[in-house]
Amino acid sequence: MKIGILTSGGDCPGLNAVIRGAVLKGIKVHGQEFVGFRDGWRGVVEGDVMELPRQSVRGISKQGGTILGTSRTNPFEGSGGPEVIKDNLKRLGIDAIIAIGGEGTLAAAKRLTDAGLKIVGVPKTVDNDLDATDYTFGFDTAVQIATEAIDRLRTTGESHHRTMIAEVMGRHVGWIALHAGMASGAHAILIPEQKVSMDQVTEWVNEAHDRGRAPLVVVAEGFVPEGQETPHSERGLDTFGRPRLGGIAEQLAPELEARTGIETRATVLGHIQRGGVPSAFDRVLATRLGMAAIDSVVDKRWGTMVSLNGTDIVHVGFDAALGNLKVVPQSRYDEAAILFG
Ligand code: F6P
Repeated sequence: MKIGILTSGGDCPGLNAVIRGAVLKGIKVHGQEFVGFRDGWRGVVEGDVMELPRQSVRGISKQGGTILGTSRTNPFEGSGGPEVIKDNLKRLGIDAIIAIGGEGTLAAAKRLTDAGLKIVGVPKTVDNDLDATDYTFGFDTAVQIATEAIDRLRTTGESHHRTMIAEVMGRHVGWIALHAGMASGAHAILIPEQKVSMDQVTEWVNEAHDRGRAPLVVVAEGFVPEGQETPHSERGLDTFGRPRLGGIAEQLAPELEARTGIETRATVLGHIQRGGVPSAFDRVLATRLGMAAIDSVVDKRWGTMVSLNGTDIVHVGFDAALGNLKVVPQSRYDEAAILFG
């Protein structure tokens, strides 16, 4: 049996560990063959593949990025569609696809499975916003990177008696902000799920300052400040028509400085959070998910993805992952907010 693997959407640390886990288990246990589609669905639509023999995955679980490349290609647009893809798979002798991606990827995979293609999924999102899995790989690494960066902002903030605002990723949900903010002892955490007034942020910052601390605010890129309907975006749309986010920290800094009288600096961490080596947790999770995806193929569980439930890897339908975002529950925000100010 020959399996094609693709990585699609925004990258995150751990993608290579998934590929290695799948390829090693498939070859060692089932004698399967593997190819990788280059740059996500683009490679599937154009039939652009690379061989994935055992030596091609040697040592890659600690490597950031994806050896296959990725893109935000929609397989139904342009020259794509199920019939083109079926023809490509037939020509290349590929029997099944393992699609590693987030909501957009899994939605496309569902449509293609409904059209008769044999696809299983592996969930991927650095934002940790997919509802059908407890954690996604890449999230732990992103939190670690953000925490280290925020710790550094803290020391320079203290030297200069400034307020520091750190902006982290989190388009729809604030998991990275919540965890990195809690880990670094932030005086305020602002996330997309919570409406927080500038009066409240000002109060938290002033409280911290009055105790002689350099106030630290952690904000998710998708936070919507009062008086705004949508998150801060000034860089147009991505290929899926979603606004490119980033810059809310820069927007908040002058307003907070004016309100508090404390010199305020903003830092946008951006794609640094998605780069570099995955944490040990993410390597293990990603490897297990890749291996479990092979079980899904062997058991012909088309239209399902592997997922983390507690400490177990389970199989759930694509439907479970689509539609519902895993938002930060009110109780988790309230718990963190006890420490604000
Ligand atoms: O969806 C994950 C994510 O990292 C978001 O947090 C962010 O808004 C987006 O991807 C950035 O996408 P791109 O890599 O296309 O700039």
